Amino acid sequence: MADKISMVLDRAQQGAPAGPRSIADLPGPQGAPLLGNLRQIQPGRFHRNMEDWGREFGPMFRFTMMKRSFVAVSRRDTIASILRDRPDAFRRSTRTARMLEEAGTRGLFTAEGEEWRRQRKLAMRALTPEVVQRFFPTLVMMTERLCLRWKAALAAGREVDMLRDLKAWTLDVTIGLAMGQDINTLEHEDNPLQRDIEFIFKRVARRLTTPVEYWKVFKLPVDREADAAAARIHSAIDGFIAQARARMAADPSLRSKPSNMLEALVAARDEAGSGFSDAVVAGNAITMVFAGEDTTSNSVAWLLNLLPQSPAVMARAAGEADSLLGQDSVARNPHLLEQMDYLDAATREAMRL
Ligand code: HEM
Repeated sequence: MADKISMVLDRAQQGAPAGPRSIADLPGPQGAPLLGNLRQIQPGRFHRNMEDWGREFGPMFRFTMMKRSFVAVSRRDTIASILRDRPDAFRRSTRTARMLEEAGTRGLFTAEGEEWRRQRKLAMRALTPEVVQRFFPTLVMMTERLCLRWKAALAAGREVDMLRDLKAWTLDVTIGLAMGQDINTLEHEDNPLQRDIEFIFKRVARRLTTPVEYWKVFKLPVDREADAAAARIHSAIDGFIAQARARMAADPSLRSKPSNMLEALVAARDEAGSGFSDAVVAGNAITMVFAGEDTTSNSVAWLLNLLPQSPAVMARAAGEADSLLGQDSVARNPHLLEQMDYLDAATREAMRL
């Protein structure tokens, strides 16, 4: 790991003296004894703090919190090379993995080394273009629901809480894709599964920024509620796995042509000698929801926020959609999406920003 870090340092800091360097050689903000830079980081402004320091100290800098050292990297190619070097040279944070596992989401995100390779093979059976294509009609139906909701609000002159709707839409889509259920949180607020998933999301985020892991010693009511929510999510997924097996028993072609990720995971798990259990299937189904929900809704929200700020870009993206979709509000065929080069570029630019 130390060798890899110094290689990355050399790549990132061109012009700096050659030879191995350590994290301590990197530029970074001056910290206080013991606390390090902890008090300079404002809660709720973490990203902004990092961006400010990035501007001040360059594409790779160090900071400390309590006794832990951190390296922040902002160059895209350096980040890509670090991600590619997982799991051999780098690993994800043990703390994040521990918090996710405590919340009952043991899967690809928390596995490392050989175990990650094994689970990655399983997850890759679920993340194929064929699985996504077979799921596409459900995606179209869910996206039409969002369009109709926004059109109705527009016609009635009602304000729309776009982020709320986008989050509900991506939760519906990821649960549809990863668990084969349509919980329609877009139109029906307060679905119990949604409540539990949102609660667990927030608990994990909160625990990640809590300096002392007190819940290992004693549990507050909120921690006991988190355990109960995790247990309810798992029991719901066990039920979805049983439903998927029943569908596959009724229609064995689903084993070779699964219509969603859960069926693909179950088919791979049930193969002779797979070595996987239903718990691994459940852990990866919930991992997909964690990984796919707010990443996608926030990316779309940023895109919708940024596009109107560049009217010429907005007009060109709209023109491309009009020419490919005609009167339709949504793409009914995945191949149409592949032709939306300009929208694809705008989406990538929004994510880069
Ligand atoms: C705009 C949307 C998305 C963004 C920006 C995004 C971003 C990322 C990033 C940066 C990672 C690497 C994290 C790391 O190595 O620590 C990652 C991993 C992952 N993402 Fe996404 N993601 C998005 C959507 C999705 C969706 C929709 C799914 C599935 C339904 C998904 C499933 C995963 C999985 C399973 C991993 C772990 C891969 C592995 O460990 O091999 N992501 N994503």
